[in-house]
Amino acid sequence: MLLKLEKITKSYSKDRTILDQLDLEIKAGERIAIVGPSGSGKTTLLNLIGTLDRPDSGKMFFESQDLSAFSDQQLAAFRNEKIGFVFQMHHLLPQLTLHENILLPTLTDKKLQGKETLERAQKLIARMGLAEVTHQKPSELSGGECQRTAVARALINRPGLILADEPTGALDQKSAFNLTDLLVELNQEEGVTLIVVTHSMEVARKMDRIYRLEIGKLQESKP
Ligand SMILES: Nc1ncnc2c1ncn2[C@@H]1O[C@H](COP(=O)(O)OP(=O)(O)OP(=O)(O)O)[C@@H](O)[C@H]1O
Ligand SMILES: [Mg+2]
Repeated sequence: MLLKLEKITKSYSKDRTILDQLDLEIKAGERIAIVGPSGSGKTTLLNLIGTLDRPDSGKMFFESQDLSAFSDQQLAAFRNEKIGFVFQMHHLLPQLTLHENILLPTLTDKKLQGKETLERAQKLIARMGLAEVTHQKPSELSGGECQRTAVARALINRPGLILADEPTGALDQKSAFNLTDLLVELNQEEGVTLIVVTHSMEVARKMDRIYRLEIGKLQESKP
């Protein structure tokens, strides 16, 4: 099991529980979609899985390690090594080129900076179809190119898990399908586990399993 959530509960205020004793198990290499109404807690759940926030109660295991036992500092190192994030808006740094943005997650760790990382970046750039635009800045790129750059940045450290929160939400339909296909291909080629939050059933159907988040819990839903 790559990831196991047991009875995870989270609320932001006393009068409303967002996640209510939620359970989830994900094996390495799976592709999971999470769908559900706006405000149902999908981003809240991804933030917990991504260790950007902690649950009020319940346990979370990653590769059998109990994450509640980690200090904030240990979590930061864990997150940088094991998890790649892709958001609805790309969050690229405007002053850096595409190439520099992709290398950003490697700058915090000396042992990540070497020939191998540069080769990895080159390979991802080619894989994402970005070879022509590597020296351009985000303002000089299309929305689809920015999102593909964000995916490359998420993958640079070879994480075991990619968390994508509406990664195609700001794209036109063609770019959205193109990005989804790329994510699926990377899952198949590199074995990276994918959790994708989406409002699009077409995107969700490309995953192995679809979960619907409603009233604080996940229900497996038929595609
Ligand atoms: N930091 C916060 N403080 C207080 N309330 C919050 C906070 N973050 C989220 N909420 C509330 O928790 C609920 C769930 O929010 P969340 O962002 O997880 O929903 P979502 O399913 O991702 O919605 P959407 O599909 O619109 O992105 C919402 O009602 C939101 O207002
Ligand atoms: Mg959200």
